[in-house]
This record gives sequence, C-alpha cells and structure tokens, in this order.
Amino acid sequence: MFLSSLSKFYGFRNLTKISNLTKKDCFKFINQPLSTTFSLDSRFGHNGESLSQKKYWESCYNEKQINNEFDWLLDSNTVSHDVISCLENSKGQKILDLGCGNSSVSQKIIEKYCHAVNVHGLDYIPSVIDHQVKVHGMVKQGHPSSCFVGVIGDACALPYRDNIFDIIIDKGTMDSLLKDNIKVRRQKKTTLFLKESLRVLAPGGSFLQFTDEDPDIHHDALWSLISHLGLQRKFSLSCKLVESIDIYGCYMYSIKKLLK
Ligand SMILES: C[S@@+](CC[C@H](N)C(=O)[O-])C[C@H]1O[C@@H](n2cnc3c(N)ncnc32)[C@H](O)[C@@H]1O
Repeated sequence: MFLSSLSKFYGFRNLTKISNLTKKDCFKFINQPLSTTFSLDSRFGHNGESLSQKKYWESCYNEKQINNEFDWLLDSNTVSHDVISCLENSKGQKILDLGCGNSSVSQKIIEKYCHAVNVHGLDYIPSVIDHQVKVHGMVKQGHPSSCFVGVIGDACALPYRDNIFDIIIDKGTMDSLLKDNIKVRRQKKTTLFLKESLRVLAPGGSFLQFTDEDPDIHHDALWSLISHLGLQRKFSLSCKLVESIDIYGCYMYSIKKLLK
C-alpha cells in the first residue's frame, strides 16, 4: 500500500517537474512582491537537482552567491506570523528551524514573540550558522530570556533526544531533498528527514512545512510517508494556503504530534 502510493508519488514528481518547470524554478527575493519571481538557474547556476547536493550549498554560501539574508519561497514576516500563532496556541517555547540557511525567520520570531522562546537554527553548512549567530547578536528580543542556538548538523540524523521541540520549521529543506534524481537516495533521505523531525517533536507540537508542493499530490504523499513510518495513529496532518499569485501557491503543511 505504502510502496505503491509512494512510488506513484515519486514517479509523479518526475512528471510534474517537467510540466511545472516555470513554476518550480521561480522563487522570489525577500521583500519583493511575489510577482517579481526569478529563475534561480540564471542567478545561482543550479539545475534543480543540484539543490539536493551539499556541495551546491557549500559553493552557494561560501562563494557568497547568496549573501546576508535570503529567504526561500516566502518572506520571514509571513512565516514568523504563522509560527507565532502556532506557538501561542500550544504555549510552546522550543523551536527548531531545520535547514535554516541564512533565512531571517528565527530573528523575526525572537523579535516579535513577547514570551521567552529558545530557537535552534540547524544547517549542515558551517558558514550559514556563523552568519546566523552573528546576526542574532544584534537582534532586539521580544523577551529578555529568548535565545538563539546555531547548530551545525545533518537534518537526516538530528543531534537531539526524542520529544523536545514544540515547533519545527521546514521551509524549503525537504523540497531540496526531493530534487534528487536518484530515486533510492531521494526516498531514503526524505524518509529519514521526516522520521527524525517527528522523533524530536514534543507531544502536542507541530512540524510546519512551508512549500510550493500542491496539496493534490503532496498531502497524500506526506500521509503515506507517516503511515510507512507506522506513525499514523500518533500524528494528524492539515494544510493551508499561505500565499498565492496566479498558478503559484505556497502552502503550510502542519503535522501535529498528538498528546497521548
Ligand atoms: C532551500 S534552502 C532553505 C533555507 C531556509 N530554510 C530558507 O527558507 O531560506 C535549503 C537549506 O537546507 C540546508 N540543507 C539541505 N539538506 C540538509 C541536511 N541534510 N542537513 C542540514 N541542512 C540541510 C541547505 O544547506 C540550505 O540552507
């Protein structure tokens, strides 16, 4: 059951990759309206698949092609608003931004949230963690006890014990793993990525995935993955549209760990 739906999903992705090429390869700059999308191929020299490769990100960040702050898919004000709403509902305190890059989402959360919050930004590229730690030194905190912890680590093998984060943010990170053209490796990494995320999520907490993947396909695919991990009784899944223009939509998928 799982294998058939998942292979359908991954097979389908290869088709959608071609048919939605314009949509998939267009992203927007922070602080620019969604209509001013641009092709990353021309700006950063990636060919879709390279987004799944660590060496692409190393050269991207180390050669300063993406310098200072850069947010994929959605700007940090929009995302921090959704995260803070979720935090307020759950009275959570501990957040993990998985594959944080040099996004300013964690800064915005620490600035805007008036309760104490502890945000971990994790990425496997050391230079972006250095950048995050540096800019967080200048952030005006919404609460004096709030703090940021930069972590160099692999999102597929998280350096944390079980059940500790109230919110986990994935903005564009699983998307980049899904770009791998080698099916076995793509399935292995995305499965590990989700398994690890759900392991470190606290009961009552939410894994928030921001992506431009259409719910028609992606909702069922995520649920298949959760079922494959044998976790369907422990989690619920919902999705909402966050921003749209013409055919381009960005969504927030929320996977909630149910209280026992
Ligand atoms: C598409 S970017 C998104 C960056 C940021 N979340 C944003 O919204 O701007 C993907 C990020 O995930 C990081 N990444 C990809 N695979 C990773 C892994 N296995 N472990 C840790 N970081 C990873 C990359 O270095 C990159 O910074």
